[in-house]
Amino acid sequence: QKLAIFASGTGSNYDAIHEAIQTGELEAELVLLVCDRPQALVIKKAADNGLPVFVFNPRDYSTKADFEAEIVKQLKKAAVEWIILAGYMRLIGTVLLECFEGRIINIHPSLLPAFPGLDAIGQAFDAGVKVSGVTIHYVDAGMDTGQIIAQQAVAIKPNMTRPALQSAIQLVEHELYPRTIQQLLTQGE
Ligand code: GRF
Repeated sequence: QKLAIFASGTGSNYDAIHEAIQTGELEAELVLLVCDRPQALVIKKAADNGLPVFVFNPRDYSTKADFEAEIVKQLKKAAVEWIILAGYMRLIGTVLLECFEGRIINIHPSLLPAFPGLDAIGQAFDAGVKVSGVTIHYVDAGMDTGQIIAQQAVAIKPNMTRPALQSAIQLVEHELYPRTIQQLLTQGE
């Protein structure tokens, strides 16, 4: 099935998904990267892999509905079936939700509903919790509120530094996201 990844930043999850497709662990086709930050590192990664990229600057549009309508156009042109959010730092609006209802998923670096929103790793670290983790969920109009698909815990050991927690969480993300997407795509086959 045809996937689009939406990302705004470094793209380590993009890399993990691309790699899983290369190895055959994820049986899907990556057809488009959508990125809202013209300077993002993930754009270079996608371009190096020969993946078509749609980059836009939200400031060039007067409303979210306007840029989402343009995104929908690009998604339809590429026959995209699933939208995979991987560090896309914006809420999805009604235009995209109406066209791709139930086919947009996100990864979040905490055990939701704990620590939604920005800097979930920092939030968990500062709260002093002993367990955090990773959540993969369907996307709805809220901030990290959609139905949960998969979760994996990460222990926060005594004396663990914040960067160490971040690395531990990323390690789990890079394994859990491709595996969960594969499960979703093969459900009901
Ligand atoms: C990940 O931690 C993901 O959970 C969150 O944004 C981050 C993206 O990182 N939604 P990367 O750009 O994939 O490296």
